[in-house]
Amino acid sequence: MGKKILRPGGRELTKKLVSALQVSDRDSVVEFAPGTGFTASIVLSQSPAQYTGIDSNDAAVKSLNRKFRKNNICFINGNAAHSGLADNSQDKVYGEAMLTMHADHRKQEIISEAHRILKPGGLYAIHELGITPDDISAEEKAVIQKDLAQSIRVNARPLTKTEWTALLEKQGFEVKHVYTNKMHLLHAGRMIQDEGLLRTLKIGYNILANPSAKRRISEMRQTFKKHEKYMNAIVVIAQKK
Ligand SMILES: C[S@@+](CC[C@H](N)C(=O)[O-])C[C@H]1O[C@@H](n2cnc3c(N)ncnc32)[C@H](O)[C@@H]1O
Repeated sequence: MGKKILRPGGRELTKKLVSALQVSDRDSVVEFAPGTGFTASIVLSQSPAQYTGIDSNDAAVKSLNRKFRKNNICFINGNAAHSGLADNSQDKVYGEAMLTMHADHRKQEIISEAHRILKPGGLYAIHELGITPDDISAEEKAVIQKDLAQSIRVNARPLTKTEWTALLEKQGFEVKHVYTNKMHLLHAGRMIQDEGLLRTLKIGYNILANPSAKRRISEMRQTFKKHEKYMNAIVVIAQKK
């Protein structure tokens, strides 16, 4: 429908992630799942020495390679769990809205790949869907995951803050910072903040003009609203020990 910002904590949490990474012109940076390239354009404005984006969607990769043409920038079609990059070769790695949609053992493979390619002391940042509070019951969590899977038609498996940090620690990272935000992906206020007023109006028009999309999006909104109290967006900044 034209929505460009698809990460749960919006532009606001992305800015915190980028600022915590402190990308400099000496850094080799890797992005897992750049998607539409929104964060890539912010990071590239900080002129890293090298940038590599790895996305499993070939059309997205082709479009990004057309949009950002420079010798030190490359987008590769592939799986973030098998980047093909050398051990201990990167200073910063980050990924948004991409671990949540994988089963826990796949999340571990991707986190372990980030660890393998980072230099010791290198930073890994994630921006994902969270569940709150930490002591939520297993039954409540299962209901949220089932409702999400049905409405967004992706097996989204959000985790609590303790679970996200434990996954990172298990793969050899030390957690440095955690930021959270409300999960307001489809709230009008967040849409205007993320997309701007004009684009929000255009998205609204596109939705109204497409009855089946309208039904699906309203189903998603209902699920997000129903579980609003238990869902958030989380950014974790971790360092390779
Ligand atoms: C919800 S979008 C998130 C895109 C972007 N990071 C953002 O926040 O806007 C999901 C993207 O993740 C990519 N993706 C999911 N799993 C991946 C994986 N294991 N390796 C590479 N790309 C992946 C998909 O191809 C898609 O472009």
